[in-house]
Amino acid sequence: MMLTPTLTPKPFIKWAGGKQSLALLLSTEFPHDFERLYEPFVGGGSIFLSLCPHKAVIGDHNRWLIDTYRAIRDAWEKVAEILDSIPNTKEDYLRVRKVLPASIGLEQRAAHFIYLNKTCFRGLFRVNRKGEFNVPYGEYDRRYYDPDNLKAVSFALQQTEIRSGDFERTLFDVTPKDFVYLDPPYYKLSGYSDFNRYTEAQFRENDQLRLGALCRELDQKGVRWAVSNSDTEFVRHVFSGFNIKEISARREINLKSSKRDIIELLIKNY
Ligand SMILES: C[S@@+](CC[C@H](N)C(=O)[O-])C[C@H]1O[C@@H](n2cnc3c(N)ncnc32)[C@H](O)[C@@H]1O
Repeated sequence: MMLTPTLTPKPFIKWAGGKQSLALLLSTEFPHDFERLYEPFVGGGSIFLSLCPHKAVIGDHNRWLIDTYRAIRDAWEKVAEILDSIPNTKEDYLRVRKVLPASIGLEQRAAHFIYLNKTCFRGLFRVNRKGEFNVPYGEYDRRYYDPDNLKAVSFALQQTEIRSGDFERTLFDVTPKDFVYLDPPYYKLSGYSDFNRYTEAQFRENDQLRLGALCRELDQKGVRWAVSNSDTEFVRHVFSGFNIKEISARREINLKSSKRDIIELLIKNY
């Protein structure tokens, strides 16, 4: 029997576009009477973990991330044990970075994912077009994980179905009793942006249109959803006719890590 952890779980990795600072505010906008929460762009999981729903379906296109969730759900102690055995040195970092995730077992793959996230420069996941992790070593002196938190995350995942792949696939069996929160890579504010390279494929304009079309389809079926995205003419156009709300978000926005308030959108069909 697993004892209920007392701690509220938090993301165990740093993730670009993470919603931790907005989780409380956003949750006041969500309905409470749903059967399952669907999060097809789960990323670092800040919304899923702050809501801790009774039942959920989470997904992401980043297979390595999804495998990490699976390993934590089923064997977090084993993942922690492997993490404890990897020293935080540049040599070890370069050795781990070279290992192909598919060539090792699930728990070790998860441990490598967390290790690289915690020790790489600026702590962000970034891959090149071939899907290779290519971030340099960060030289940070910090622990890789908090055992109480990893245990709490594992507990929160027990009633959760974890799917890997495109958002359309994750949502194939959603029903009007469920609620869907969608947090895609944001439509670019201006110019070229490589910020959303979470996977080897970029999330392009066509994918934003696909998302808009799917949301209209779900709306027709009576499924409630909320989408976060950038405040741009394009996004306002894709979701025209729905309830569009401006949300003020304080974010680290550029490489010099200056912070400023930016407005983003929360679009709802309820
Ligand atoms: C803005 S992040 C989500 C952040 C998350 N809400 C958090 O708090 O950490 C967007 C996520 O979408 C994923 N993604 C990119 N393209 C996708 C696709 N076609 N289908 C599903 N997920 C995708 C990325 O891997 C990334 O984790």
